[in-house]
Amino acid sequence: MKILAINGSPNRNGSTAKLIDMVLDVCKEAGAECESLHLEDYVIGECSACIKYLKDCEYCQGQEDDFMQLKAKMLDADGIVIGSPYYSGKPTIQIKTFINRIAYTSVNNRFFENKYIVGVSTSAVSNSKKIARFCATLGHSSFMGNGIVSGLLYESTVDKVVMGDLADNEELKAKAKVVGLDLIEDIKIKRKAKFYTLKRIVFTKWIKVLCIKVIRFFDKIALKIRKFAENQGWIKKINKIED
Ligand SMILES: Cc1cc2nc3c(=O)[nH]c(=O)nc-3n(C[C@H](O)[C@H](O)[C@H](O)COP(=O)(O)O)c2cc1C
Repeated sequence: MKILAINGSPNRNGSTAKLIDMVLDVCKEAGAECESLHLEDYVIGECSACIKYLKDCEYCQGQEDDFMQLKAKMLDADGIVIGSPYYSGKPTIQIKTFINRIAYTSVNNRFFENKYIVGVSTSAVSNSKKIARFCATLGHSSFMGNGIVSGLLYESTVDKVVMGDLADNEELKAKAKVVGLDLIEDIKIKRKAKFYTLKRIVFTKWIKVLCIKVIRFFDKIALKIRKFAENQGWIKKINKIED
């Protein structure tokens, strides 16, 4: 079993790297073969939006860069742990550039649909869950073929850094252990998309769409009733009562 870790922070020994390492340590202990890399060490050109070449990123403007090398590493892995710090509500430019290169082509080709992915994010104080999720979904949901979200690990670290080295933080280690063991388990049993992904789709997207339809339906009925009432002259009566 192979796990590839991708640190999208420019800080190679920073908080994000430490959280990623915690997950990797758990995977190593469980017998997985782990490789860790920093996006900073690779040249990733920007997506040139060459929509007609959706089949592969080879044709992208940045074809002289290291993208294909990273893609090959991802394809070779069973699980991917990918992380970014929270920068003013967004991931780092390194992660965004990399995921821009992945997101569109892999959705069309389902390159990573069988990969189990853990998203990691750290911030000083903000809630960085959405950045962890952005990483874990490689910019799109698993329903679109961008891998299966195995878990998220995100933490605001400012207080913990003050208390000492993050790498020694037992609370974080415990969280990382759960995420790491889940990843190993997901790979072993080839788990399909997790419930929370389904829950998110079903309970947010579908319910929202349903609510909008129901509201529009009642809106139409209300309009018809109003017109009927106008024709019957009831509205005037109501107005008179209000007067
Ligand atoms: C440009 C920049 C913007 C940041 N914006 C935020 C922010 O909006 N909220 C927050 O809580 N932390 C913010 N931070 C702090 C980092 O998210 C935090 O220190 C993170 O743990 C750094 O990860 P690293 O050590 O892996 O680089 C920002 C840091 C930088 C450099």
